[in-house]
Amino acid sequence: MEVRIPLSDMAYGEEEEQAALEVIHRRWLTMGSVTQKFESEFARSVGVKHALAVSNGTHALHLACLALGIGPGDEVIVPALTFVATTNAVLYCGAEVLFAEIIGQTELNISPEDIERRITPRTKAIMVVHYGGYPCRMPEILETAKHHGLAVIEDAAHAHGASLNGRALGTWGDVGCFSFFSNKNLATGEGGMLVTDRDDIAEKVRSLRSHGMTTLTWDRHQGHAYSYDVIALGNNYRIDEIRSAIGLVQLGKLSRNNARRKTITEHYREGLKGAAAFGIKLPFGNSPGIPAYHIFPMLLPEGVDRIKFMESMRKAGVQTSIHYPPIHQFTFYRQRYPQLSLPVTEKVAAREVTLPLYPGLHDEEVDWVLSSTAEALTFDRVISPTG
Ligand SMILES: Cc1ncc(COP(=O)(O)O)c(C=O)c1O
Repeated sequence: MEVRIPLSDMAYGEEEEQAALEVIHRRWLTMGSVTQKFESEFARSVGVKHALAVSNGTHALHLACLALGIGPGDEVIVPALTFVATTNAVLYCGAEVLFAEIIGQTELNISPEDIERRITPRTKAIMVVHYGGYPCRMPEILETAKHHGLAVIEDAAHAHGASLNGRALGTWGDVGCFSFFSNKNLATGEGGMLVTDRDDIAEKVRSLRSHGMTTLTWDRHQGHAYSYDVIALGNNYRIDEIRSAIGLVQLGKLSRNNARRKTITEHYREGLKGAAAFGIKLPFGNSPGIPAYHIFPMLLPEGVDRIKFMESMRKAGVQTSIHYPPIHQFTFYRQRYPQLSLPVTEKVAAREVTLPLYPGLHDEEVDWVLSSTAEALTFDRVISPTG
């Protein structure tokens, strides 16, 4: 059967189309005034001094590491339950990844205690990931970082519009990195944003994202400059005006879309309440702050065949996914860090399945996902029909 309910869908309308068309009509596509506006509005929305738009979230993370001077001989502490881009950014700089455990099945974020345990004299930074847009334990992590003189990078790829204690996620550490990939709460197809209050980091990133050049094509087009110097080995990590225009529209819709995500999440939680008795676990039940509700993760009862469950859901027309296969178990990372085992992460990750979640998901569709979930598990003889 064709998938009827995808895992994720873009919340786009005529406004995005119009914004893209306007850029085309203005005939300036590379980074210029629309990007500047996107950056300043994004900075205002999270309450930070600098926001720098880039080509994607991976490049934001890479630039964050470079700007912090992370390089060969350094280690960065990172959770393994994340997308591989998070740790790749560390390796691009020639540094090594120090994997840390997550807290456990109720909270899939990095464990502050395990961070503390893993610090060595070579550790230079902690890179946290706000899994699903649910806040990491930032006050404790910042305290550890301060005590050991470490930088903090936030992978906020899932966390647009989320906050903890009134402070936006992405603005707690030295640098925050957002992704605008198609499935994100704020989507431009590809794209990303790096945010920081530190002038030195902003200055480095501004230069490194565009070949280390001292002026942009846009500056010269406007007559503000006639030439440029190259002061560092940068790269092309620029966004473009069409994506920035779409990003501006999406930013305007973010709080409404996140509110809908929250409602859907609550609907799922309510519908799955009874399933707890059969071993289904729903992480982040008592999440502090305001999450972004980027995805809806659940942990299947122990012993359930996950692939069989996902197949059964697919037959019911529901796409599900896994967030994430732990990074240290991928071939490339296993070869690099062969002795590593992370029992808490591995146990939780093996049971994780993600249900569809996006603002355009209708209530009846959520009900369908819920009944399909119950059916799939009954079929697996784990949950009785009355459960
Ligand atoms: C947690 C996490 N970090 C980093 C990234 C990388 O972002 P991008 O795909 O924009 O490069 C993603 C997204 O896909 C992600 O989910």
